[in-house]
Amino acid sequence: MASAFAGDIDLAAIEEQASRVQNIVMQVRGAMLAPESRKTPPTFNAGQMLSMTGLEKAQFDYRIRRGELPSGTLSTTGARREFTLTEARQWVRATRNKELRPAGARAAVVSIGNFKGGVTKTTTALTLAQGLSIRGHRVLLIDCDPQGSLTTLFGLLPDTEVPETDTILPLLVGTEPSIRSAVKATYWDGIDLVAASPVLFSAEFELSMRMAATPGFEYWRVIEQGLEDVRDEYDVIVIDTPPALSYVTINALMASDGIIMPLPPNALDFASSAQFWRQFNDVAKLMAAQGGAHKTFSFISILPTKVEFTDQASTGVLEWMAAAYAERLLPVEVPKSMAMSAASANFGTVYDGAAGSTKTVKRATDAFDRVVELIEDQVQRYWQKQLTGKESA
Ligand SMILES: Nc1ncnc2c1ncn2[C@@H]1O[C@H](COP(=O)(O)OP(=O)(O)OP(=O)(O)O)[C@@H](O)[C@H]1O
Ligand SMILES: [Mg+2]
Repeated sequence: MASAFAGDIDLAAIEEQASRVQNIVMQVRGAMLAPESRKTPPTFNAGQMLSMTGLEKAQFDYRIRRGELPSGTLSTTGARREFTLTEARQWVRATRNKELRPAGARAAVVSIGNFKGGVTKTTTALTLAQGLSIRGHRVLLIDCDPQGSLTTLFGLLPDTEVPETDTILPLLVGTEPSIRSAVKATYWDGIDLVAASPVLFSAEFELSMRMAATPGFEYWRVIEQGLEDVRDEYDVIVIDTPPALSYVTINALMASDGIIMPLPPNALDFASSAQFWRQFNDVAKLMAAQGGAHKTFSFISILPTKVEFTDQASTGVLEWMAAAYAERLLPVEVPKSMAMSAASANFGTVYDGAAGSTKTVKRATDAFDRVVELIEDQVQRYWQKQLTGKESA
């Protein structure tokens, strides 16, 4: 054993350091989310309601007079109407009926994956969920990352405020057959959450134990099977994965109908994306050989993200991405944006109401509106395929 010297940092000091960081996170959260230390959903004005519902002003006013849908709250001067998220979603569901999940189709499961850290997987997961819910869909978000970043974006502290029973761990361990008991409502109407906490670090071990104890145990199907019970209650299930090819990530990918890979246009991230697909393919082949079904996906979408328009090098990499991923590359670029990083400093996304210059916020929000629209198209195609058994045009 190495000998200790005066001034060395021992484990007690490391523990103390962890507590200091945690205390500051709690204080920051308290200040950010004051006065309630809880996140609050955004509200919508009449102009936003028109663009969300696709109605003309006259139609909108007419339907308010008819009184079938919530009329919002009038400002004290009576000049402006404001709608809560719940009210806005009622309107959207009533007016976007055709775009919603048809009877007989089940929730589409979409994983956000990339082995690389910090490529905006978590930001994409939450922004997509919020965007889909604003378009009327019911979304279940599942945080599979022991870091619990997605959970933190909901204003919850994974270390202290998330009981194990609110995570996927009981499902992975086998004490719960369904994910249902871990599902919790959130501050955002239309999004339910299965949270994550550091207890998920033990998931790899638990799954290996079950493999050793039970011959023929299909370790890669645990999440898929656990979702079965709730698939009729949601329109889209979005899974945020950790930056690793763990058993849990494999479970998420094998449970998915679609994969979104956020990919910043830089050479190293591009190169590592090839490893992601190759390694996933190797593992999936192994599972097929062990009697698992041959896995297919309804869609795989590569999302260019953190794009710096002034960066010459990234233009080149975007060209490689287009050549390599062809039609799987989404025709949108999420800018590297102060609005996005500022929003996360407030435990939120651009849809939570971001700080910063109007122009920056608008650019980031417009890009994400487009991402949501493109993924909604893919999800609708998936629903149609379920109903007709073939690809729709
Ligand atoms: N478009 C953007 N522009 C600038 N910063 C962004 C953008 N999107 C996300 N970020 C910031 O980049 C950081 C990493 O994002 P995020 O946590 O979503 O990545 P991740 O892939 O989930 O990371 P991990 O691999 O650790 O799970 C965060 O601080 C986030 O606020
Ligand atoms: Mg993440």
